[in-house]
Amino acid sequence: MSKRLFIKTYGCQMNVYDSGRMADLLAPLGYRLADGPEEADMVILNTCHIREKAAEKVYSELGRLRPLKAARDAGDGMMIAVAGCVAQAEGAEIMRRAPIVDMVFGPQSYHRLPEMIAQATRQRAAGTAAPGRGVLDTDFPAEAKFDFLPEASAAPGVTAFLSIQEGCDKFCTFCVVPYTRGAEYSRPVDAVHAEARRLVAMGARELTLLGQNVNAYHGAAPGGGEWGLGRLARALAELPGLERLRYTTSHPGDVDDALVEAHRDLPQLMPFLHLPVQSGADRVLAAMNRRHSVDDYRRVIDRFRAARPDMAFSSDFIVGFPGETDAEFAATLALVREIGFAQAFSFKYSQRPGTPAAASEPQVPEAVKAARLEALQSLLATQQAAFNQDCVGRVLPVLFEREGRYPGQLVGRSPYLQGVHATAPATMRGTVRKVRLVACRRNSILGELAEPVAGVGAVAEKASA
Ligand code: SAH
Ligand code: SF4
Ligand code: F3S
Repeated sequence: MSKRLFIKTYGCQMNVYDSGRMADLLAPLGYRLADGPEEADMVILNTCHIREKAAEKVYSELGRLRPLKAARDAGDGMMIAVAGCVAQAEGAEIMRRAPIVDMVFGPQSYHRLPEMIAQATRQRAAGTAAPGRGVLDTDFPAEAKFDFLPEASAAPGVTAFLSIQEGCDKFCTFCVVPYTRGAEYSRPVDAVHAEARRLVAMGARELTLLGQNVNAYHGAAPGGGEWGLGRLARALAELPGLERLRYTTSHPGDVDDALVEAHRDLPQLMPFLHLPVQSGADRVLAAMNRRHSVDDYRRVIDRFRAARPDMAFSSDFIVGFPGETDAEFAATLALVREIGFAQAFSFKYSQRPGTPAAASEPQVPEAVKAARLEALQSLLATQQAAFNQDCVGRVLPVLFEREGRYPGQLVGRSPYLQGVHATAPATMRGTVRKVRLVACRRNSILGELAEPVAGVGAVAEKASA
């Protein structure tokens, strides 16, 4: 019998990848994906714990699900599961605060989902499923979940994520990830290669390799020993049909020569790198336990730029880390001006339970954090707009991913992840084409095909954004 599954995903790309794998695990049990929770037999909230706001979302979503579940439980019932990093951090608390939850499991134990469902179903049938006493699995099992996940069943899109590394041993003092995802683990090269081959065979043209610290990758190599990310990228770049390779998120301290050289040598490796720096002040970086200085960061950027002059960068920033002074914040603004980012994410520091910085004094007042965030975001927005504007007039390769809003239009991405829309035949979906960028629009860039379309004389287009 076919059952319906709804998964709501919060947080980072690793959660997006995990949600896909949960769907793969449940497909053999008869679960098909639903568009919303209303009709679903199983609802999974795959949660994020990185900042307070992200973590709170799970409780408000559970509040919205409560009446739905009450209505459905009169009939065949609805199962509710909380997965991901909030589940890992606050499993028992979730069970206590939200008795409607049937199952709670963390990012490293979801391969046991079929057993958990069987257990929850047995509890229900026996009438022993008391509110607040669902199935809880927040282990960090000795076995790696990857060894137990089935091959992907659903075809990927033109672009696909592939987790190659998980967890983190860096323990930045603000961050929950080492606690929610556990110790650093790299999948063996053969397993990564096999999954990449399958994704490409099913239609993916771009792969984004994922890891909390993806450039700390050190997977067991086919002939013994270990490969780093640079070597892995070389091997994957040889896959026929794979047009583009990206990876995220990188740590500045783990950039080695092999990775820089891969950017120099591999046209598949996109010249765009997300390299979080967090702060432009050495004292703050040290207090964050980032293990690199501002100067180290500059040097890493210089090495990439020397290897690949068209390389562009994005970053993450935290403002209002405990003790951050006006001068230290000014140093962050100065670093942003100096480097010049194509894109960036910035956040107010959020005190996370159990992390060292949460207890550091003095905490920065909310109003100061808000003012700093506004100043930083306005500078970053100006840089992003300038970067996009600089691309206007250039011809860039665009990988067309899907149909656009208007008939005859395709939407894709430039090497720099800029969204580009252009008039192009639907047959160009899934291919990389030369596109001249002609004008910046609010959320994407308007382009014109800069190569001939088979059977069509003129390639000019007049679509409006
Ligand atoms: N592994 C990556 C990032 C993981 S979290 C790295 O090392 O950079 C993604 C981003 O969330 C971080 O780069 C940081 O900018 C932000 N972040 C993490 N913890 C935070 C906290 N407690 N408060 C505010 N932002 C935080
Ligand atoms: Fe968190 Fe730091 Fe690890 Fe990134 S490197 S996941 S910020 S502890
Ligand atoms: Fe959030 Fe967990 Fe990712 S805390 S950012 S979902 S690793």
